[in-house]
Amino acid sequence: MSQANRILSGVQPTGNLHLGNYLGAIRNWVALQDSHECLFMLADLHAITVPQDPDKLRTSVRETAAAYIACGVNPDKSAIFHQSAVSAHAELGWILSCHTPLGWLNRMTQFKEKANSIEESELEKVLKLLKYFIANPDVNASQKEMDINIASELVKKMLEGGKNKEKANLGLYSYPVLMASDILVYKATHVPVGHDQKQHLELCRDIAGAFNRAYNPSYNVTENKGGFFPLPEPVIMGEGTRVMSLKDGSKKMSKSDESDLSRINLTDDSDAIAKKFKKSTSDSFPTVGENNETRPEANNLVNIYAALKGVTRAQALAEVGGLQFGAFKGALTDVAVEKLSPITKTMRELVASPDYIDQVLAKGVAKAQAIAGVTLKEAKNLIGFLQG
Ligand code: TYM
Repeated sequence: MSQANRILSGVQPTGNLHLGNYLGAIRNWVALQDSHECLFMLADLHAITVPQDPDKLRTSVRETAAAYIACGVNPDKSAIFHQSAVSAHAELGWILSCHTPLGWLNRMTQFKEKANSIEESELEKVLKLLKYFIANPDVNASQKEMDINIASELVKKMLEGGKNKEKANLGLYSYPVLMASDILVYKATHVPVGHDQKQHLELCRDIAGAFNRAYNPSYNVTENKGGFFPLPEPVIMGEGTRVMSLKDGSKKMSKSDESDLSRINLTDDSDAIAKKFKKSTSDSFPTVGENNETRPEANNLVNIYAALKGVTRAQALAEVGGLQFGAFKGALTDVAVEKLSPITKTMRELVASPDYIDQVLAKGVAKAQAIAGVTLKEAKNLIGFLQG
């Protein structure tokens, strides 16, 4: 298989996988296995950017591997491995971090969200209010009090954000560089992910370009030819690239949401799935389809329905757009149970065979190490390190 067709992707093995991970990423991996050489990792190095319990991490890595297989990743075709077993990821990560300007990392929105840090736009809002007070000394008292309250809330938020940012660890900040290394160490050409990873992939392309410019005198940036690293293409496909919380259509479905009702876990049984869709947030429109794209919760449920059925949004709307929420949620539950219950069942069986999972991982690690070792050696040579 030529290098022109290599796929790398991964999931953080931290707790249960959810419908977003499945529809946004893993299901698409399965579809790509026949046409591409695939490597799917368990991103355990990324997982420790937040505290992890060692026993739970070990269990989670095996469970996530079981989920990959249960979703249809075939270990005879694709390498499944844990990232921490291939030390070239961390080593190339260091090299790439020496080619990554801080300004690029400062733009990463996921870091800002995770570190809960201050946004420049908030500072600007406070400055705007101050300027307004100076320009309008006679503004009426109640308006003034209201504005002062807004300003003090913003300052409080900024101070808290500042403290959180100070406490955030370096790994959380440099996370996207390690992610670039995960991809580039295999010279992967395509990376199937959900929409939330798009910015990280753009950064990966920038880092690859920076390295190529530094070490390949003949590198043609415009045509992207002659570079050591190919610039990987994000593969963001299907109707499930942004699965939102079942409780709030403006927030993405996430493992870290406090409410378990906000997500469908791949371990949920049919009763749990039915209950979660029944309790999912809806609105007061008479049918699911009316003005659907302006109604985040209804829109999300229709996208989930379309993604699970493997049809377009338009096709899904033609089918279920005329239904009221009650009937639609019933149809949604049916399709979710039909697609997910075989996965849940297989996952349970696989988790009961840790020896099998360990064999799969050992095979995946060997393949990953062989490819990554060559890239790392070549990169070190280009840089001018003496071969050890
Ligand atoms: P992670 O573990 O947050 O998510 C794994 C995959 O699931 C997708 N995803 C979603 N897709 C649609 N809707 C959602 N609500 C949703 N939530 C998650 C993510 O886009 C992702 O594809 N940084 C990565 C892991 C990683 C990686 C890599 C991925 C590390 N190195 C190299 C690709 C290539 C992450 O934290 O994904």
